[in-house]
Amino acid sequence: MPKRQSLIVVANRLPIRRVGSGASARWERSPGGLVSAMEPVLERFGGTWVGWSGMTGRVPRPFSADNVRMVPVPISRPEEEHFYNGMSNRTFWPLYHDAVRTPEFNREWWGAYVEVNKRFARAAARAARRRDVVWIHDYQLQLVPMMLRELKPDLRIGFFMHVPFPPEELFAWLPWRSDILRGLLGADLVGFQTQAAMQNFSRLARRYTTATGTDSALEFEGRTVRSGSFPISIDFDAFDEMARDPEVVRDSESIRQRLGPQRKVVLSVDRLDYTKGIEHRLAAYADLLNRRQIAAEKCVLVQIAVPTRDPLPDYTRIRASVEHAVGRINGEHASPGRVAVHYFRRTLSRRDLVAWYLAADVMLVTPLRDGMNLVAKEYVACRTDHSGVLVLSEFAGAARELRRAVLVNPRDLDGMVAAINVALKMDPDEAAQSMSLLRSMVRRHDVRFWAESFLGALTE
Ligand code: ADP
Ligand code: G6P
Repeated sequence: MPKRQSLIVVANRLPIRRVGSGASARWERSPGGLVSAMEPVLERFGGTWVGWSGMTGRVPRPFSADNVRMVPVPISRPEEEHFYNGMSNRTFWPLYHDAVRTPEFNREWWGAYVEVNKRFARAAARAARRRDVVWIHDYQLQLVPMMLRELKPDLRIGFFMHVPFPPEELFAWLPWRSDILRGLLGADLVGFQTQAAMQNFSRLARRYTTATGTDSALEFEGRTVRSGSFPISIDFDAFDEMARDPEVVRDSESIRQRLGPQRKVVLSVDRLDYTKGIEHRLAAYADLLNRRQIAAEKCVLVQIAVPTRDPLPDYTRIRASVEHAVGRINGEHASPGRVAVHYFRRTLSRRDLVAWYLAADVMLVTPLRDGMNLVAKEYVACRTDHSGVLVLSEFAGAARELRRAVLVNPRDLDGMVAAINVALKMDPDEAAQSMSLLRSMVRRHDVRFWAESFLGALTE
């Protein structure tokens, strides 16, 4: 990016969020892959981040943290309900993830979505100087590109969709489908995780707006809008370095000791989201135990789950169902001092997470649908000795790149059982060969490469 331009990131969440109230109020890191990926990018380039603090009511004034100027955008309590819980999390999230839960369509939510998107566009316009580069993120802010262009036509505007972009069969359900496409077409460059998502977008734009052109370059209202696939990634070096830290290595050894040094450790780490396939995974693990293909004395599953979108009914249900399944497996297979499945519902520090990645012989990343899935890449980056096996869902964007993982269809119970068996029994030399290829893939295509490719294409 040319030096004189500065970068303005616009995302629903700031990288830190305000939690607690009164004397116990504090800032903590925001959850999810978007923040994990963008945080190192912005800390490196410097710039401004426009986003929500996670609290309703009064907003903090703009402030600086880690080389980044934070500009909080206010969201009221009713807007949190309609824009965030409603339109973002009950309409777009399920619709864009293969409608694995039925999306709901509600015109009051839509009204709030338009209003909040306008507010983000105005905040971005105020933060930007002439010819700055503005990079807008994700499904919560799809109208912002066009709204911002109408306010400030001189800006370079990029948009990146972190989640999948659905095919016509699903997208066409959306009563506001043309508005959304027009909103996105306000950008100069629209980026997606995969080629398939990018093609879905371009076809839909040609079908439901006046856009013409090819999959990668559309003509719309006298401008060219480019689109492309830019698979997001992680800060490989940071994970690799942390995984070599003697204290973290000690922590991981201590984890293994406490789990039982002779046992194989199988790990999963997800937000507690219904797209992540946690129930299917537990069913497969239970099946292995029930059929005595594995024994709890020799093998332990650890499920770490970050609380997320708590008040929404689908999230309350998935939590209850996961906790029920864990209880049931342990009821049948645990012995005194030795559970079959450990379940931790909490957010961990980066160091603790890395210690867990280091402790795991097998990593199960089996979402029903996922834009990318950074956990899979983080595990690979932490396996500095090239040991460990990654079992990865075909329906995660990461499966397009991490082809040497054990790929699996999470809905195929027998396939899941077979994949876990293969991973547990893999010959160490074969595992090391695969891990080494996976590592060089993630090392080459790290988050810096991703950001530079996108920003390079946006500003060329
Ligand atoms: P999503 O964006 O849907 O949450 P990703 O796998 O792409 O899925 O990103 C999840 C991010 O959250 C990763 O960077 C991962 O390290 C982090 N994360 C997941 N679980 C935890 C946890 N229990 N504690 C802290 N961070 C976590
Ligand atoms: C995914 C989405 C992000 C979102 C994150 C956490 O990574 O792509 O846009 O921020 O999940 O979800 P939340 O609803 O807590 O922001």
